[in-house]
Amino acid sequence: MGLKKRDWLFLALAAAVVALFIGISGEGTTTRVPRDEIHQEFYDLRAAGTKKIEVDALCEACHDGVQIPFPPDHPAKPGASPMRCLFCHKLENE
Ligand code: HEC
Ligand code: HEC
Repeated sequence: MGLKKRDWLFLALAAAVVALFIGISGEGTTTRVPRDEIHQEFYDLRAAGTKKIEVDALCEACHDGVQIPFPPDHPAKPGASPMRCLFCHKLENE
């Protein structure tokens, strides 16, 4: 009988591990920075070794929430400290 209880515990643990993996992989699905004419310069800056935080500061020239609105549930609000865009939105080659 004791073995049965352990089986259930094992299953619960396995389920928790699977759920955790799904949760982690979900974070990897945030839209990547498109490699198009507009955003190519940021790929070039990163390739040249410019720090992410310095490149982040350039995004808000266009992505200020007015010229290009953010989705209503966007986790980072414009103007709220420097926005770490590239922390969440990876380049396509990262
Ligand atoms: C804390 C993480 C985080 C930060 C910081 C962040 N974003 Fe986002 N952003 C998201 C998530 C999550 C979504 C909604 C899911 C998606 O579309 O990828 C999103 C959506 C977007 C979208 C819409 C994408 C689409 O497919 O419609 C744009 C554009 C965008 N963000 C640009 C930016 C810019 C520019 C910055 C920096 C000024 C920024 N984000 C900072 C997490 C973040
Ligand atoms: C010169 C203006 C401009 C700047 C600066 C700019 N973007 Fe954009 N961005 C756009 C426009 C316009 C779009 C929508 C058209 C497109 O997808 O290219 C866009 C779209 C996006 C999207 C959504 C792509 C999608 O598939 O829906 C993301 C993510 C994004 N930008 C991130 C960034 C980040 C991060 C930075 C800073 C490194 C940045 N952008 C700087 C103009 C800009």
